[in-house]
Amino acid sequence: MAEKKRFQAIKGTRDLLPPDTELWNRVEQTAREVFGTFGFGEIRPPIFEPTELFARSIGVDTDVVSKEMYSFFDRPIDLAPPHTFYDTGRYIKGLKDLLARGEIPNDEKNREIIQQLSERWEEFEKLPPDQPLEGEAKASLFRILGFRDRVRLGPEITLRPEATASVCRAYIEHGMHAWPQPVKLYYLGPMFRRERPQKGRYRQFYQIGAEVLETVQPGQGGAKDISKDAAVDAEVIEMVMAFFASLGLEGVQLEINSIGHAADNCRRGYVKNLQAALEKVKDKLGPDSQRRIETNPLRVLDSKLESEQAIIAGLPKISEQLCDDCEKEYAEVKRQLELRGAKYTENWRLVRGLDYYMRTTFEITAKGLGSQNAVCGGGRYDGLVELLGGLPTKGIGFAIGEDRLILSLQEAGKGGAAAGRDVFVAWMGERAQAAASAATQRLRAAGFRVELPPVEQKFGKALGQADKLGARYALILGEDEVATGQWTVKTLANGSQAKMSEAEFLEKLKNEVRK
Ligand code: HAM
Repeated sequence: MAEKKRFQAIKGTRDLLPPDTELWNRVEQTAREVFGTFGFGEIRPPIFEPTELFARSIGVDTDVVSKEMYSFFDRPIDLAPPHTFYDTGRYIKGLKDLLARGEIPNDEKNREIIQQLSERWEEFEKLPPDQPLEGEAKASLFRILGFRDRVRLGPEITLRPEATASVCRAYIEHGMHAWPQPVKLYYLGPMFRRERPQKGRYRQFYQIGAEVLETVQPGQGGAKDISKDAAVDAEVIEMVMAFFASLGLEGVQLEINSIGHAADNCRRGYVKNLQAALEKVKDKLGPDSQRRIETNPLRVLDSKLESEQAIIAGLPKISEQLCDDCEKEYAEVKRQLELRGAKYTENWRLVRGLDYYMRTTFEITAKGLGSQNAVCGGGRYDGLVELLGGLPTKGIGFAIGEDRLILSLQEAGKGGAAAGRDVFVAWMGERAQAAASAATQRLRAAGFRVELPPVEQKFGKALGQADKLGARYALILGEDEVATGQWTVKTLANGSQAKMSEAEFLEKLKNEVRK
């Protein structure tokens, strides 16, 4: 008999259960409503995409791409892996067919490996059938297995670690540059990153995000555009703040920064200075920061290491080296935020962990989250669509960590009550069962949450269960009630009881439950 095994959710993933899921639904519903009022429509991109899409967009030297992505090689559906070593011949034939049809990557490397595999197999087959598997025969077997493992059966794909790259890919794929501009999209759903799990940090987590994309028209640019971009940035930030306000999120703090653009007289020049300054203090930095001096010096500013804080405080600041346009845009973003009543603090160390950002970056923190307190991050990413093969396009957006948002709401006691029921139908007797199920159908059709016990229970037991389920009213249906059409309704909070008709009960529910 198979050994008994208990399965558990994989580390860093979790089940979301009722009644918590009620809060999740309320949060998502509120997002849809608030974003809708700002003119955003929903996009639902796939959960997996080509690995290269993320590598190009987010950047190969970022933590996300270099160590956190869940990537794997896809495989064609109609090629069963070899069952035994001696099944390799069939497998090779299948590989060759698929290669010819382009259903597995038909590039030089793959062709070469399959060719080698095929030749080694032919040699092996020429060996006498009763030859013991040792010496040259054994070496040949291992060579075959080696080549077999190296065949790439499909493209490399990745469970999305974020959705901005997907939205840009979709923008290009669906020719959204021809839609009325700007295109405003929002999304909700799971993202995947192989991070060390802790409170507020998971390997499958949920984001609520939004993006505004606008393809640059010929002749655009200049001072007018700077104030337009700044207004778009400010409105996007205003939208997140409005969403948080409507949920009653507490301790919301907005931090902003500008990281300029990739030019020698702007960020590129700054990064050179920063690198030089970091080289001078290299010995005092930890191994992560030391490595980043080469790979991604801006990320050193993100370090949370206590021992590095004083050193970082003395490093050159990007705000001192922004080009004129970036500086103007940043000033205008601040003015636009002020006129919208959004309170912010400036944080020159806010560089964000993804490569596609330029100019405006922002993060929002909330109460009750401990060290993982960033509940939203975002910024401008002009040029990303073009980098992915589209037309020159501006972009700005954000993503909210929904898990953290929920945690913060729950810590503040805004989790909402347990699911409960509006009505528990306590029935006794055969005739009462028919009346009870008919009444239940009508109450549910009117939108109330009704529990109908599947078997008869004594009224005392039924009322106890109604209490446990957090029901508001018990509808007591016995022979009497069925005969007279006068229902007995018990209010569980205070134990009071009254007789009334179905119409009167419905009226009562409408007035008291839907208040
Ligand atoms: P991000 O800063 O990588 O930005 O993620 C945004 C938010 O997702 C974070 O502030 C955090 O709340 C949440 N988050 C990230 N990783 C985890 C995790 N492992 N567990 C729980 N929550 C997490 C982006 O993803 C960008 N795509 C945002 C954006 C959109 N920028 C422009 N448009």
